[in-house]
Amino acid sequence: MKKKSVKVGLIGLGTVGTGVVRIVSDHQEDLFKKTGLNIEIHKILVQDKAKKRSLSVPEHLLTANVEDILYDSEIDIVIEVIGGIYPAKEYVLAALEQGKHIITANKDLMALHGAEILNLAQEKNCDVFYEASVAGGIPILRALVESFSSDRITKMMGIVNGTTNYILSKMNQEGADYAEVLKEAQALGYAEADPTSDVEGLDAARKMAILSTLGFRVAVNLDDVDVTGISHISKEDIAYGKKLGFEIKLLGLAQCDDSDEIEVSVQPTMIHSSHPLAAVNGVFNAVYVHGKAVGETMFYGPGAGELPTATAVVSDLVAVVKNMKFGVTGREIVVPYKEKRLKSDNKKFSKYFLRMIVTDRRGVLAKITQLLADNNISLDQVIQQPCSGEEYAEIVLITYEIAKSDLDGFLYSMRDVDVVKEIKSCYRIEKGEEQ
Ligand code: NAP
Ligand code: HSE
Repeated sequence: MKKKSVKVGLIGLGTVGTGVVRIVSDHQEDLFKKTGLNIEIHKILVQDKAKKRSLSVPEHLLTANVEDILYDSEIDIVIEVIGGIYPAKEYVLAALEQGKHIITANKDLMALHGAEILNLAQEKNCDVFYEASVAGGIPILRALVESFSSDRITKMMGIVNGTTNYILSKMNQEGADYAEVLKEAQALGYAEADPTSDVEGLDAARKMAILSTLGFRVAVNLDDVDVTGISHISKEDIAYGKKLGFEIKLLGLAQCDDSDEIEVSVQPTMIHSSHPLAAVNGVFNAVYVHGKAVGETMFYGPGAGELPTATAVVSDLVAVVKNMKFGVTGREIVVPYKEKRLKSDNKKFSKYFLRMIVTDRRGVLAKITQLLADNNISLDQVIQQPCSGEEYAEIVLITYEIAKSDLDGFLYSMRDVDVVKEIKSCYRIEKGEEQ
């Protein structure tokens, strides 16, 4: 007899899990029309069944025992939204062993153990979809895999962490305090359980590893991504940026050149205030995708939050149900097929902003200029201003395009220069039309 419904096991009922239950229930009729099957949330795994929740769920659906989901033969699809690696990885692998299809929003899991999970899924003819793991509600992964399949992607650049963008936007626009805004982002459900991974750039790095693996078809690991977070960004840096016409954003950048050498990074970047990414504020994310044939495209939308993220999860659910119906599950696993060749630092070029405190006396600038020349660095702008009531001055340098290795050489040699009290900050500048 033909199936009339599909039963789903939901692992996790936090921000995203709650959104999934709401969307499956509120859009029941549409989902039926789109798939021809009733989608039923059959069991939900939580840690604490007695916890007060924003959504009332029939008590019989809740369980604290994962085996009620993993070994229930009626459940065809498992949605993992607990986050983190352990025990999520064990649960996902065990569900695949049982022939269940997987949907996850977990970038940590997919960036670190994606290959193992996808291999097992292939072996078991199961689907594994993870649209919600990158840029929340923006359908970027399916676009990369399907819509750009005819093209050669050369660059992906964007804001892929909602929490840090929320923090930087508030610091930029309201001069808000870093710690206070972080608390707000946590209360709104944007931040990870441990927000260090948001503010130190790791969450964005995992997303960039996933994007570049799918976009370039090269197995990019977290270790291949150069990461700097936002916790050191000061109000002074933001004010300086503004004065010069820049906004500071945590930008993910992945590039693949003609010889298939790639570079992937996440770092606070100064972008001109007229650049479209400067207008991406709050929890919104945006990803530029540049294809050799298509040119420039941009994807924009909410990067976190209950319902936006849940729409991506439920869209994956619709995809799996359709695949089940047509007997074609396990065929959409993306396997990287290109050899990984990482670009060396002497081939990575960019403009930079440097701010430093130096002793305010004759010959200091000449010394710094000499070190810049020694490291092949030429300057676009130099700004010097006295620090109030002290014997120090603040110097801001804006370089022309220089190699990262030369920048590192310069910063290293500055450590031994006695007139340099402190290098306060160093940011990459994203080239816009104005520069
Ligand atoms: P969350 O609000 O912290 O919820 C986690 C849920 O998992 C809770 O219901 C918790 O149970 C349950 N849980 C945690 N550990 C468990 C365990 N060992 N056994 C059983 N249940 C466990 O997390 P979230 O924000 O929904 O995030 C979930 C995933 O989605 C993460 O991978 C995250 O990176 C990803 N994601 C989140 C967003 C977002 O906007 N929040 C956006 C995109 C992707 P209790 O309720 O009983 O404590
Ligand atoms: N903590 C993540 C963010 C959730 O702030 O972007 C969405 O992946």
